[in-house]
Amino acid sequence: MRLVKPFFGGNWKMNHGPRAARRFVEEFTALFPPSQDRTVVFFPPAVSLAEFRTAAAGREDLLVGLQDVYWEPSGAFTGSISAPLAKDAGATFVIAGHSERRHVFGDSDEDVVRKVAAISAAGLTPVLCVGELLEERDRGEVESVVTRQVEIGLSQLQAEEAERIVVAYEPVWAIGTGRTASAEDANEVHELIRGMLVERVGSAAARAIPIIYGGSVKTSNIEELLAAPEIDGVLVGGASLSPKDFAQICRTVWR
Ligand code: PGA
Repeated sequence: MRLVKPFFGGNWKMNHGPRAARRFVEEFTALFPPSQDRTVVFFPPAVSLAEFRTAAAGREDLLVGLQDVYWEPSGAFTGSISAPLAKDAGATFVIAGHSERRHVFGDSDEDVVRKVAAISAAGLTPVLCVGELLEERDRGEVESVVTRQVEIGLSQLQAEEAERIVVAYEPVWAIGTGRTASAEDANEVHELIRGMLVERVGSAAARAIPIIYGGSVKTSNIEELLAAPEIDGVLVGGASLSPKDFAQICRTVWR
């Protein structure tokens, strides 16, 4: 599946249970008409996925995904959800390697690669998150950290699988902090990622892969971010919880 750019992802994290999800969809759909010229994906908590889909029935343009999965397909893994189960529930995307998974729950690069491979093997699109810590940025390690995370993240994918991913650059110091990377700084890292993708899958396929930015995206900075040539969309946390703000973000005119 070739994704239409720009890409807008709403990562609700551990917010909005089924009732809140329903209310959200009612408000959001009133503010955001069906549109074919962009991709909009919600990542509600797994327990809200079914209610979200029911409330959004008839809005095939609004896609859903899960925020994380375990890499085994099934079995005795209490508390976990697999990629095939996510697919069965109607998800088309799954986030892998979000910084909160890496830094709060201890997901290692090796865990992330297994998850990316499992998501892709299930026929879902992985949203691979990469990004440096503040101290890594201060030490001038942005390039080496991001290069390592992208390289490892894609290492288990076949070429045709690597063409069907989304890469999210999310500098850890910008997530939930109100601090956004400047569009210029983010664009530089996106260029680096694009270069790696070109090497991996060739120029045409690499250009089609959405490389999106995340970290304190809001209504006041979305236009500047999307104006940057290598930023193909955004992954939004806090501001995606408000139907009004997120609808405004998703309506942004793209270059
Ligand atoms: P934020 O989160 O927009 O609240 O900074 C972004 C993310 O974690 O994807």
